Amino acid sequence: MWATTMSTYEQKEIESKILGYYLDAYDDYSKQAVFDTAKDGFSFLDDIRQLYDEQKPPITPQTSSKQFQSEIDLSRYRKDFPILFTKVNGKNLIWFDNGATTQKPKAVIDALTYFYENENSNIHRGAHTLAARATDAYEEARAITASFINAPSPDNIVFVRGATEGINLVANAFGCTYLKSEDEIIISHLEHHANIVPWQLVCEKTGAKLRVIPVDESGQIILSEFQKLINHRTKFVSITHVSNALGTITPVKEIVQIAHAYGIKVLVDAAQSISHFPVDVTDIDADFLVFSGHKIYAPTGIGALYGKEDALKILPPYQGGGNMIADVTFERTIYQNAPAKFEAGTGNIADSVGLGAALKYVSGIGMENIARYESELLLYAASKLSQIDGVKIIGTALNKASVLSFTLDGFTTDEIGKALNANGIAVRTGHHCAQPILRRFGLESVVRATFAFYNTFYEIDEFISVISNLKR
Ligand code: ALA
Repeated sequence: MWATTMSTYEQKEIESKILGYYLDAYDDYSKQAVFDTAKDGFSFLDDIRQLYDEQKPPITPQTSSKQFQSEIDLSRYRKDFPILFTKVNGKNLIWFDNGATTQKPKAVIDALTYFYENENSNIHRGAHTLAARATDAYEEARAITASFINAPSPDNIVFVRGATEGINLVANAFGCTYLKSEDEIIISHLEHHANIVPWQLVCEKTGAKLRVIPVDESGQIILSEFQKLINHRTKFVSITHVSNALGTITPVKEIVQIAHAYGIKVLVDAAQSISHFPVDVTDIDADFLVFSGHKIYAPTGIGALYGKEDALKILPPYQGGGNMIADVTFERTIYQNAPAKFEAGTGNIADSVGLGAALKYVSGIGMENIARYESELLLYAASKLSQIDGVKIIGTALNKASVLSFTLDGFTTDEIGKALNANGIAVRTGHHCAQPILRRFGLESVVRATFAFYNTFYEIDEFISVISNLKR
């Protein structure tokens, strides 16, 4: 039905390259998919697809945000983000660099201030009131985090510096304990360097080998190739949920299902999915999942590693120090259970409280609402951008989150970034810490706009107008 709707749209309405890409991607993907991803996929995307049914007016080069009626408008939440009212180069800031980091709402800024003004202390030690307040605040943040990703218990949540530290923790603790020469670890071609390099380091130490799942022309993982890569030597799978460079939403549920059929544990890197749609660890069934707080409106320097109880149990400690021990003598040390086993030393207490505040804040808006609104922003932006002569959109998978990467004939990505910045529009240019996937598409650099729920259709018009003017 999706394909039929898209064909009709394509034939009758506009020459929209992007929709053609989506259609091709769907055809390729459905031929290769082992599972029915349309059925098992993301329900909010079905609603977005309906934007393109025959009743909807097309998005043409002339369409502006004023004519485009959003199904749901979250821009009213902009007022919660003080920085969005900053001027840059004399223009209102347009923050389209959400993939790099998100801006912080007052709720988070106030939670940090409140903590430092009323609760600051070290945790899990100290015989005084502030130690109890700080410990309560820290453990409440852990409980909020567990509930946000539907983990069975707060004990499944280890606070880490971010997704990168979470992956390094698992790679070292699992890899250096269980991998031996000729064992294999599977990742995908889409990975951020943070989900490549830690595994390469482990391979150097253990003699294990890295295997890479290829992607198709749309930038989607080819599941049938994944099935071919799995064999008796495969010991671990580590896979991104959303590509930071292309926006592809990968079929993690299916990947976990396939890996588990072989008894192989899976880590999901949710750094780029966590802020865009509901992430449910129980539903995905991954053994580990990591994300960074700063990608979801929380401070930098705090993130979470989720682990199933049995998965955390088989990992040795990653670092030694205070807090992670039950008893120490010079002869031996008995460790705490998870999560304390993995939280040596004084952690980032205040920012974990900030993370809790951020997760409560977005839960108040509703992750389903955020997913729906951002998908509209993405499709509006992609449709308009693809109509500009010389634009090539990189990453056209059927299932995509809020990432729009592109090149423009005749301009370097640096020139495009500078032109946008001169107009107050922040994007990222370069390799996006994902060189292998850009090289897969023959590129060293792309311009990347990444959207959040506080962005507006009007901001997209401004962005499109700068790009269009460059071509004149
Ligand atoms: N990983 C972040 C990005 O994709 C920094 O921009």
